[in-house]
Amino acid sequence: MSVAAPPLTLRPPRPSDRGRVLEIVRATGVFRPSEVDIALEVFGGAVQKPGVDYHALGAYDDAERLIGFACYGSTPGTEGTWDLYWIAVDPGTHRRGVGRALMAACERAIADAGGRLVVVETSSRPDYGPTRAFYQALAYGATARIPDFYAPGDDLVVYTKRLVPSTGERPHG
Ligand SMILES: CC(C)(COP(=O)(O)OP(=O)(O)OC[C@H]1O[C@@H](n2cnc3c(N)ncnc32)[C@H](O)[C@@H]1OP(=O)(O)O)[C@@H](O)C(=O)NCCC(=O)NCCS
Repeated sequence: MSVAAPPLTLRPPRPSDRGRVLEIVRATGVFRPSEVDIALEVFGGAVQKPGVDYHALGAYDDAERLIGFACYGSTPGTEGTWDLYWIAVDPGTHRRGVGRALMAACERAIADAGGRLVVVETSSRPDYGPTRAFYQALAYGATARIPDFYAPGDDLVVYTKRLVPSTGERPHG
């Protein structure tokens, strides 16, 4: 059960948020150093050329401090499939609805852009248990798994969610 959600503003982050992104990603304690570098690269791409490869969304508290962010983009070579590349929330504000608010806003933006399927990739490691619980709570289903993908004993788990089209049509399948 969540405690009261902090007052949140959701908006595209700025290049000056890079330091907070690094702090948040490191503070979560789940990412390998090489993944931290990738997170910064994806964030950089999203803020420097929004929408070219990546879009980003930041969650700010009432002091205008970045407390979470998400990066997403359309999957090249597909019709209406989008990848949610990255989401991380400051551990000091976990379980207060920040991640849920970020995901809902990303899904709305994806649906508004004609997206129909959202794909997220995560790890089978025990320390990603809360992350998998998070996706499941948001109605993502585990639709594929590649054993030993990240490392021996560390599988890739693919979660997907079909979006309700913005036109009000019902999703297929
Ligand atoms: C995954 C993550 C973004 C969730 O952010 P959050 O703001 O804490 O999530 P929310 O508070 O919006 O949680 C929404 C729901 O997800 C589920 N959930 C979230 N954290 C959970 C946990 N630790 N254990 C069990 N369920 C959890 C709950 O159902 C929760 O609803 P509830 O609190 O009303 O029960 C955050 O834990 C995080 O940054 N993790 C590390 C980074 C990461 O793994 N990113 C994804 C990489 S693939």
